[in-house]
Amino acid sequence: MSANLRQEDSKVEVTGLEARYYDRLMDLVTLGWYPRFIEKAVADIGLKPGERVLDFGAGTGRNALLMRRYIGEEGGITALEIGEEMKAQFIEKTAPYPNIELIDRRIDEPLPYENEYVVVFISFVLHGFVQELRDVIVQNAYRALKPGGRFAILDYANFDVDKAPWYIRFAIRKIECPLAEDFIRRDTRVMLEAHGFGRFEEHLYFGGHLRLLKAYKPAG
Ligand SMILES: C[S@@+](CC[C@H](N)C(=O)[O-])C[C@H]1O[C@@H](n2cnc3c(N)ncnc32)[C@H](O)[C@@H]1O
Repeated sequence: MSANLRQEDSKVEVTGLEARYYDRLMDLVTLGWYPRFIEKAVADIGLKPGERVLDFGAGTGRNALLMRRYIGEEGGITALEIGEEMKAQFIEKTAPYPNIELIDRRIDEPLPYENEYVVVFISFVLHGFVQELRDVIVQNAYRALKPGGRFAILDYANFDVDKAPWYIRFAIRKIECPLAEDFIRRDTRVMLEAHGFGRFEEHLYFGGHLRLLKAYKPAG
């Protein structure tokens, strides 16, 4: 299956109407479940006052505003995003907060950050890349983190799609891009270990099909 996967088939670069109404669409397609879920998942990152976060594929700014509750004025968020509609919403939402910055920069190319951040966050982005680019992204996260820092990946968990409830199978095979199933089938921890991450913590949601996986960079 993986041999036929192409980055061009990915839907991770959200554009147009879908991007403009992204937050509302998420709330709608999850029948109002999404806001509570994302609040819980962001709480589970365990952010503390003063922490600096690098957010990969930041989206509309919804997640940044949730993270801001925990890091306070002393912390900071650097958001990397390339989608025009997403960037516009992000700028509008976060305008009052000088400790949140948006940078128009691709995450699937080598990044300039080294030992700078306590947390790298990536939410529903990593599954949308072919494995070679996921490796570039994971490597970028590892380099950007300070020793002891954590890479917090909110995305699909690893499970057997054939054995999942019909609505999960339907969403993954008919709505999501083909790369999502490839991501689910691989062992995310093994991928992270190959890049140097050592310790893991996880929080599962939605019957174990979604997961916040925190991978720690060794303390040094
Ligand atoms: C499915 S959305 C998730 C947005 C946000 N993380 C969230 O959880 O609401 C994927 C996001 O990744 C961004 N994106 C896709 N490819 C990217 C790339 N190569 N570099 C930076 N951002 C990217 C898209 O523009 C989009 O905002």
